[in-house]
Amino acid sequence: MTAGSSKLPTPDAGARAHSARVAAHLREAMAVAGGAVPFARFMELVLYAPGLGYYSAGAVKLGAAGDFVTAPEISPLFGRCLARALAPVLSGLDDPVVLEPGAGSGALAAVMLDEWAALDVAPSRYLILEPSAGLRRWQQANLAGRGAVEWIDTLPESFEGVVVANEVLDAMPVSRFVCAGGTVHELGVAPEGEGFRWVRLPAPAALAQRVAAVESLLGAPLPDGYTSEVNFAAEAWVATVGRRLARGALLLVDYGFPRREFYHPQRSQGTLMCHYRHRAHGDPFLFPGLQDITAHVDFTAVAEAAVDAGLRLDGYTHQAGFLLGAGITELAAQVNPADVRAQMDTAAQLRRLTLPQEMGELFKVMSLSRGVDVVAAGFSLRDLSGTL
Ligand SMILES: C[S@@+](CC[C@H](N)C(=O)[O-])C[C@H]1O[C@@H](n2cnc3c(N)ncnc32)[C@H](O)[C@@H]1O
Repeated sequence: MTAGSSKLPTPDAGARAHSARVAAHLREAMAVAGGAVPFARFMELVLYAPGLGYYSAGAVKLGAAGDFVTAPEISPLFGRCLARALAPVLSGLDDPVVLEPGAGSGALAAVMLDEWAALDVAPSRYLILEPSAGLRRWQQANLAGRGAVEWIDTLPESFEGVVVANEVLDAMPVSRFVCAGGTVHELGVAPEGEGFRWVRLPAPAALAQRVAAVESLLGAPLPDGYTSEVNFAAEAWVATVGRRLARGALLLVDYGFPRREFYHPQRSQGTLMCHYRHRAHGDPFLFPGLQDITAHVDFTAVAEAAVDAGLRLDGYTHQAGFLLGAGITELAAQVNPADVRAQMDTAAQLRRLTLPQEMGELFKVMSLSRGVDVVAAGFSLRDLSGTL
């Protein structure tokens, strides 16, 4: 997800009215809960409340007219590399399915299906699990006529194949905490006038235990005022997918760090990030329902959840290393040398996807598998699994 950080534009009257309805719904939930809800519940409602939340209501999210841009929207080279990396896994399975949760505009599905067809490993079924009704309609329009694609409402009980999740874990609701006076507090949200404010709630045992585990890893208590997040929902999701994947691979792409880096004492205000009309900022209470809210991913937590569910960690590296390992420069070189415009566009896409100051280092790729001999390619240049 990429966006700048200049001044935020003002939503129009229709958008403001929608946001007021979302805020009223949030206040109701807070009243029912006795005055405040944990931040994870606030984030869940503000993003996914049926008919109201950012992802559940109709507005465009991705691309120039939306709020942010993701790698599949930047370049088809991204999806082609993912498809090539996963092709050996697909070809080693009998009739594998592909599952893509949170498929955005459908761009990644279209590019990967074309690449697999060219490599003669096209899956007969490509399942999309999309909680957003608006995005599902957009995908159905963009993927019309592709017979392999089906939309499903829940994860299959058991399946063989590959799962590809690009920027899905970062969109799951996170618990937030603050350390103060030797105690861990969960951060909650309460109404304040027309808006909202932070409140401190007693930390549930799982949150307090996680912070204690982080402190023991770092060898020192987190400083007073230190605020950060734990994404229990992402861990639970990875564990569920891991248990249901009978054979195959799970490829995760997202922005984040290993635990030691995620909870670095200098990252004292956590990783929460909001996106509105291509501007990034840190206020999750602004424009409820109109802006995206995300948090970076603790990849150590993801790997632990996956391994506990019986998956094997096959590789972890940054996006640049993965794409270069999967052959992005060779693919980019296939552009017609006589087409100067295409050459320039491809070079610009390559830079955005791989340069360290763009998406190259912050974004990571993790491959997990069960029961397969051949694993996803793309980790041979620089595997960073040892940093987890
Ligand atoms: C930032 S968008 C990324 C979209 C797309 N993958 C891309 O790269 O353009 C996050 C997506 O994850 C979806 N999502 C969030 N939680 C999910 C879950 N539990 N299962 C499936 N999709 C989920 C959201 O609805 C949304 O479509």
